[in-house]
Amino acid sequence: MTAAPAPADGPLGRHIRDLIAAAGPLRIDQYMTEVLLHPVHGYYAQGRRVGAEGDFTTAPEISQMFGELIGLWLADRWQAMGAPAPVRLVELGPGRGTLMADILRALRVLPALGDALDLHLVESNRDFRTAQRDRGLPATWHDTLDTVPAGPLLLIANEFFDALPIRQWLWLGSGWAERAVGLDKQTDRLVFTTLGADADAPPLPATPPPAGAIAERCPAAMAHAHAIARRLARDGGAALIVDYGYAGPGWGDTFQAVAAHRPVDPLTAPGAADLTAHVNFAALAHTARAGGAAALGPVDQGRFLDQLGLGLRAAALKARASAAQAAAIDAAVARLTAPEQMGTLFKALALTGPDAPVPPGFAAEPAR
Ligand SMILES: C[S@@+](CC[C@H](N)C(=O)[O-])C[C@H]1O[C@@H](n2cnc3c(N)ncnc32)[C@H](O)[C@@H]1O
Repeated sequence: MTAAPAPADGPLGRHIRDLIAAAGPLRIDQYMTEVLLHPVHGYYAQGRRVGAEGDFTTAPEISQMFGELIGLWLADRWQAMGAPAPVRLVELGPGRGTLMADILRALRVLPALGDALDLHLVESNRDFRTAQRDRGLPATWHDTLDTVPAGPLLLIANEFFDALPIRQWLWLGSGWAERAVGLDKQTDRLVFTTLGADADAPPLPATPPPAGAIAERCPAAMAHAHAIARRLARDGGAALIVDYGYAGPGWGDTFQAVAAHRPVDPLTAPGAADLTAHVNFAALAHTARAGGAAALGPVDQGRFLDQLGLGLRAAALKARASAAQAAAIDAAVARLTAPEQMGTLFKALALTGPDAPVPPGFAAEPAR
């Protein structure tokens, strides 16, 4: 067992320790679900999370250009679909609603699309729903994608998949054991531990991984990818998934916690920090194809935004900006695209109906 540096405090820490005392260690996905989504003490129930004052900043909160370019990408996809009306515009996990507000502003270039749009926001958090409503977004809200009506689909998800709970398995030399959160009774600390053999463990690899390797899976992400793909195969449309993650298979522990823009221990003070994991884009693409969709990418975010015309949009904004505003625009471009910032860690994956033309930003991308 590896001890966390300090006892878990607060009512959620107590609740989690009670759960473990009563029923044994929690799998990582169970722990993430309790910490993020507990209706009273969970991380998302605490408000304030996104933006400079919160725990993390997302691309749409960095610059309006991000949402505007994605809006134009969606408008292009609508035209490529034959301009169906109505078309369901869906966002998964809209947070403060900034991305959708920027998208809707960009979509005004096509008034006919404005008339055809039927907006649906899938948001689990009540405070975020209130923020989205207060922004004037003309939407219907959902707890899950399942209740969004059928029909041609345009879907966007930015930093949604990283928030979904993962499971982890630790390589013990001859087999996998599922990683879990247990309780060190002597110190009352939450600690990482492992469970016994289980039917869900990954297959034994042909080449054994290094000792201590960790395999991750995100069943909730795969369920979402499959549900989106089935809709795209049946009704047509396109989905754009943007997140931080990796493109190929690999071992490694990507379970992480962030508070006030700094990494913190995921087992300390549960509910006071955001818990996420890197997105396995290869697994998402594979699952989407199995569900009947085409999958393109992932493309690095920097390259994707460059191809959509970020440089031109920045130049247009700078043409009527003050020197200070122009410097802020340059800084935002660097933050979104520079390899050492968000440019390569963040990636975009496109899912489309099976016979749709290749979307902008993915033209030269071989499927991975
Ligand atoms: C990291 S924030 C991203 C917010 C926004 N997309 C942005 O880019 O600023 C994650 C969002 O997903 C929502 N969320 C997390 N898990 C969810 C779930 N299972 N169902 C619906 N929404 C969820 C959160 O409430 C939040 O709005």
